[in-house]
Amino acid sequence: MKAVILAGGSGTRLYPTTGVINKHLLPIYNKPMIYYSLSVVMLIGIREVVLVVNPKDLDSFYKLLGNGSRIGMSIDYSLQSEPLGLADALLSAEHLVREDSVCLVLGDNIFFGHGLPDILKEAKAGVEAKGGAYVFGYYVNDPSRYGIIELDSEGRVVSLEEKPKNPKSNFACVGLYFYDEGVFDIAREVKPSKRGEKEITSVNEVYMREGKLRARILGRGFAWFDAGTHDSFLEAGEFVATVEKKTGLMIGCIEEIAYRNGWIGKEELIKLAEPLAKTDYGRYLMSLLEEDKDAL
Ligand code: G1P
Repeated sequence: MKAVILAGGSGTRLYPTTGVINKHLLPIYNKPMIYYSLSVVMLIGIREVVLVVNPKDLDSFYKLLGNGSRIGMSIDYSLQSEPLGLADALLSAEHLVREDSVCLVLGDNIFFGHGLPDILKEAKAGVEAKGGAYVFGYYVNDPSRYGIIELDSEGRVVSLEEKPKNPKSNFACVGLYFYDEGVFDIAREVKPSKRGEKEITSVNEVYMREGKLRARILGRGFAWFDAGTHDSFLEAGEFVATVEKKTGLMIGCIEEIAYRNGWIGKEELIKLAEPLAKTDYGRYLMSLLEEDKDAL
């Protein structure tokens, strides 16, 4: 399975800032937003990533992440010139995914919660073994902002709606999805919605109608942010700052995860930390060599 992380789009909800800088490069507290989605795919052991970006931002992303080898990964880039929807962005990555199953993550989504990697690994294994698709619901008090999932008493998805005026439930479909390799054929066929975009919700609806969509609720012990508006951007940053200051442990630190996964060794970690030696981020990376935080 490969991961496709969507980091294109126009970010209009964060204008005027995003008129000149891509949303996913803005810092959520102490690191670029894109680190958080990348860290999730790393935590489930996916090493091959396709990053979908706007052509004008390619250089900046490349400067930040390169081809991924610095953190023991392979990162390819695919270009989405026009923001024609999430399913369209996914299609732009098809030639790089090369008939593999996909973990699709929205680059402005931030996840936190004990046990999350295990839940996601289970979903990944399910899709790899049986095909189909997996989505995750999260209870929110402003459901009209999201794609909404309705489940029956057995936990089966019975309806999906994108930003409904009259939501049938409070479960938002978070921006992390697992698909079998058939997803590209489905994405090609879906028709643009009223807002002129190929919606990822329309793709999920096809899987639902075919009885191939599974869903799981991420309960109240998890935190999930879609940092695409000024308020949610700020809230996500405050959340990360609060947890990191309290525990002294970082959220979304890609170098740390690469090191703990065994994808880079001590020498590589030192190389990554040295240029940042005078910063808290660099000191944190160096501290991983000294302290035993493995039990955490
Ligand atoms: C997108 C999806 C929506 C999902 C949300 C999660 O919305 O279309 O179904 O719930 O991401 O972040 P967008 O943020 O692009 O409006």
